[in-house]
Amino acid sequence: MRAMDYRGPYRVRLEEKPMPKIEHPRDAIVRVTRSCICGSDLHLYHGLVPDTRVGMTFGHEFTGIVEEVGAEVESLKAGDHVLVPFNIACGQCHFCKQGLFGNCHESNPQATAVGGIFGYSHTAGGYDGGQAEYVRVPYADFGPTLIPDWMDPDDAVLLTDVVPTGYQAAEMGGIKPGDTVVVFGAGPVGIMAARCAWLFGAGRVIVVDHLEYRLEFARTYCPAEVYDFRELDDLVVFMKKTTGGLGADVCIDAVGNDAAGSALQTLFGKKLKLEAGSAIALHWAINSVKKGGVVSIVGVYGPTGNMVPMGNVVNKGLTIRANQASVKRLLPRLIDHVKAGHLNPKALITHKVPLEEISDAYHIFSAKLDGCIKPVLVPNG
Ligand SMILES: NC(=O)c1ccc[n+]([C@@H]2O[C@H](COP(=O)([O-])OP(=O)(O)OC[C@H]3O[C@@H](n4cnc5c(N)ncnc54)[C@H](O)[C@@H]3O)[C@@H](O)[C@H]2O)c1
Ligand SMILES: [Zn+2]
Ligand SMILES: [Zn+2]
Repeated sequence: MRAMDYRGPYRVRLEEKPMPKIEHPRDAIVRVTRSCICGSDLHLYHGLVPDTRVGMTFGHEFTGIVEEVGAEVESLKAGDHVLVPFNIACGQCHFCKQGLFGNCHESNPQATAVGGIFGYSHTAGGYDGGQAEYVRVPYADFGPTLIPDWMDPDDAVLLTDVVPTGYQAAEMGGIKPGDTVVVFGAGPVGIMAARCAWLFGAGRVIVVDHLEYRLEFARTYCPAEVYDFRELDDLVVFMKKTTGGLGADVCIDAVGNDAAGSALQTLFGKKLKLEAGSAIALHWAINSVKKGGVVSIVGVYGPTGNMVPMGNVVNKGLTIRANQASVKRLLPRLIDHVKAGHLNPKALITHKVPLEEISDAYHIFSAKLDGCIKPVLVPNG
């Protein structure tokens, strides 16, 4: 079969690889129908995630048709069209029992923090991902979810990560009616977080980025007040001023460790690798939120530390909430939101690319060319 192959930072290509096989009675083999490239894949592509091994296939957001199931999988059969959560979760361990499906204790041999994730380096279990024609899905009796007949497959593929992650970012913010919510990052995740903030009763939603075309999209889609951080003398002072001198009630970091906006953090984190990438968006979130406020982090950071103003977290009495999204926990209510028309995920898709053109797709998404918000790969498309 053909699959994406990681060759080192900024180098991916399509390769002929062996067909995946059932390795455990709870496995399934899925023929991929759609597969996205995520901002999280860019951290791998940019060489910011430790133990990303040459030869791996990325891709943690995919839908597909079940080809074959292992002996213990009774909930699926060949021919089912499923969406597959990006977390690999057993559904039965101490953490899965609490609905912490992003922190499964069984699916990642290095399970001190994150659980298994498809196509996300050996720090997340070393599983091959879905930017391929076929993929092996472990714990297939738990994760994969039937795509309802009425659902557009383009909406379905965004329910594997972007929608639950944006929703959970807003949920972790503990938004109260009327709250001012600032979202850092107008990528697919930040846009969805801003959109979902309204579902929790926000009174004002602000999105910050430096890509005009994404801010323009966020302005109408979320909808949100939008600001280009390059045009603000001091972003934190501006956020204080525009919130009556107090700061925002909730700040959401939907940027992660690849943040632009600080020469110092770029030098320390991205060039010298003395910290896990650049944490300037998190820094701004901590300093822009009011005393007693909540900072919700879904942007991805590495295992090593980051320079963030910890003293301000303590002295302002902040609540920090963070996690990988727990996709399976959120799916039932998110499917309802899509059905009711509260969420229109597929509007984020700007590019549909045949799997064969995967190198171009990575380049376009990484360099933010051609108005790209979310690229979707279609095998044999
Ligand atoms: N926690 C989870 O479960 C989960 C799931 C999916 C993605 N993520 C993470 O969420 C983050 C966003 O993902 P995405 O797919 O939207 O990525 P993306 O790369 O498309 O978007 C990131 C956006 O942040 C903007 N940005 C850069 N520096 C900024 C700054 N200092 N302030 C404000 N905006 C800034 C970029 O211009 C870009 O538009 C990534 O870190 C990704 O790894 C986490
Ligand atoms: Zn993703
Ligand atoms: Zn588990």
